[in-house]
Amino acid sequence: MYLPLKFLVIILAFIANQHEAIAAYMPPYTSIVVPVNKHTDAAKPLYSVQIMTAYVNMQFLHENFLIDIDAPFIWHDCIVQWNIYPGSCPSNTLCASPISCEEYQCTDVRTSYFYKNPYCHPETNSSTLPGWGFCTCPVNVVNPVTGSCTQALLNYDEFTVNTSDGRNAFDGFYGAYPNAACAPSSSFASFPANVSGVMAFSTSPYAFTTYLYEPLKKTLALCLPSKPSAPGVLFFGTGPYYLLPQSNVDVRSYLSYTPLLKHQDSFGYFISVNSIVIKKRTINVPVNTTTRLSTIDPYTTLRTDIYNGVVRRFSMVTKRLPLAKPVAPFGLCYNSSTTGLRVPDIDFSLPNGKKWTVTTTNSIKQVTNEVACLAFVDGGIMSEPAIVIGTFQFEDNFLEFNLENSTLGFSSSLLRKQTSCANFNFTLIHGP
Ligand SMILES: *[C@@H]1O[C@H](CO)[C@@H](O)[C@H](O)[C@H]1NC(C)=O
Ligand SMILES: *[C@@H]1O[C@H](CO)[C@@H](O)[C@H](O)[C@H]1NC(C)=O
Ligand SMILES: *[C@@H]1O[C@H](CO)[C@@H](O)[C@H](O)[C@H]1NC(C)=O
Ligand SMILES: *[C@@H]1O[C@H](CO)[C@@H](O)[C@H](O)[C@H]1NC(C)=O
Ligand SMILES: *[C@@H]1O[C@H](CO)[C@@H](O)[C@H](O)[C@H]1NC(C)=O
Ligand SMILES: *[C@@H]1O[C@H](CO)[C@@H](O)[C@H](O)[C@H]1NC(C)=O
Ligand SMILES: *[C@@H]1O[C@H](CO)[C@@H](O)[C@H](O)[C@H]1NC(C)=O
Repeated sequence: MYLPLKFLVIILAFIANQHEAIAAYMPPYTSIVVPVNKHTDAAKPLYSVQIMTAYVNMQFLHENFLIDIDAPFIWHDCIVQWNIYPGSCPSNTLCASPISCEEYQCTDVRTSYFYKNPYCHPETNSSTLPGWGFCTCPVNVVNPVTGSCTQALLNYDEFTVNTSDGRNAFDGFYGAYPNAACAPSSSFASFPANVSGVMAFSTSPYAFTTYLYEPLKKTLALCLPSKPSAPGVLFFGTGPYYLLPQSNVDVRSYLSYTPLLKHQDSFGYFISVNSIVIKKRTINVPVNTTTRLSTIDPYTTLRTDIYNGVVRRFSMVTKRLPLAKPVAPFGLCYNSSTTGLRVPDIDFSLPNGKKWTVTTTNSIKQVTNEVACLAFVDGGIMSEPAIVIGTFQFEDNFLEFNLENSTLGFSSSLLRKQTSCANFNFTLIHGP
């Protein structure tokens, strides 16, 4: 049953490349959907998407890839082989076809879409593969956990995900055929267990998005879970999106929108923050403060001047709460042994009067049984950009990156709407 479906997917992907066919073709789904897992077993909390890779023994292997909205391209634990035939790939290994050093993509990635890191050495044309008349294409990759740089080989890859109507996952598949890179297993040693790749969801032309067909690639919706035990959800496709128990409320009705900004030298996403407001008092930030969104940094980082303003104000409005000795990397902590902490909202005031409200679950991190801290970090006096919003502040917030119109839709805490990122109904239904 799976194989014919898979071929259908390949045909659809082919049709998607024919621009004239796009307008005519209406697929029987509105999005593709993947589960998002939270991992707490590495040096910092990280989030992955589960994607299907090789098709072996009549089923797809499921692999977890770190969600990285800054990465210039996708890379994972695999090897390149130039002549792949059934049985040629060593067991417990993923194989992909190499891109040669003479192909366009090799030069393009190396000159325009590479990882920027001062510790990376320039790439050289190195290995050839047995029986293959070309050199492979080594590219530098930076480990988001350790920051170390290693080399990977550019490839022709193949990923499969489930389709959806925004309400359930379908048993039907969608195939994407990106240029990615294979890195040795050792490069993933510091990753969370079971995570063996990095999925680029950035604005780079080598991000996953590029390889989707037209209606899907316009929108990326991301909802990070707060616990490792229940998956959150990521969609490509313009919606609708539904979360239980409100099975008839489109999550888009909860969203406010703000412009997404481009920033030279980065494939990531930026917004403008006008000020930060805590209990009606405004903490000024410099005019049009560029704010980066990060799926790797665990906590929101503020340049020292902004950080000091926020901590001063927050201390004042929480002065009835017992303090505890600060636990690094935080600077303001409370003794939470007696009461569950409830603190005032922190509002990020955005252009056009929009505000992103950070409620207690996204502002206070329980560090131990007795200590809870304001989950904002001092980035130093030179921190650039001045604000980086980190993943703790995204958990149980629905984000919609509208890539066609460059806007970011955000819900603030879904818990205030009696739902959460872990409430997508992943029950498989038979797609139309
Ligand atoms: C690698 O080989 C290609 C094709 O021969 C060549 O265009 C490119 O300049 C070489 N790159 C390096 C870094 O040597
Ligand atoms: C995708 O569909 C296949 C069956 O068609 C199923 O085995 C797999 O678990 C599904 N994945 C998700 C995330 O629902
Ligand atoms: C890794 O995956 C295996 C198999 O799916 C599972 O049994 C195990 O609990 C996972 N480990 C972690 C740390 O998630
Ligand atoms: C701030 O942003 C607005 C809207 O993008 C722009 O009109 C204004 O000139 C900017 N101000 C500064 C000081 O850059
Ligand atoms: C928190 O307060 C309780 C009761 O006053 C005290 O026993 C405990 O040592 C305090 N813990 C910390 C980490 O300050
Ligand atoms: C972008 O804006 C146009 C005009 O308002 C609208 O028709 C289109 O649907 C929008 N695209 C997305 C992906 O929301
Ligand atoms: C999840 O979806 C399935 C299939 O549509 C449905 O039978 C089930 O009731 C849904 N679960 C909940 C909790 O609504």
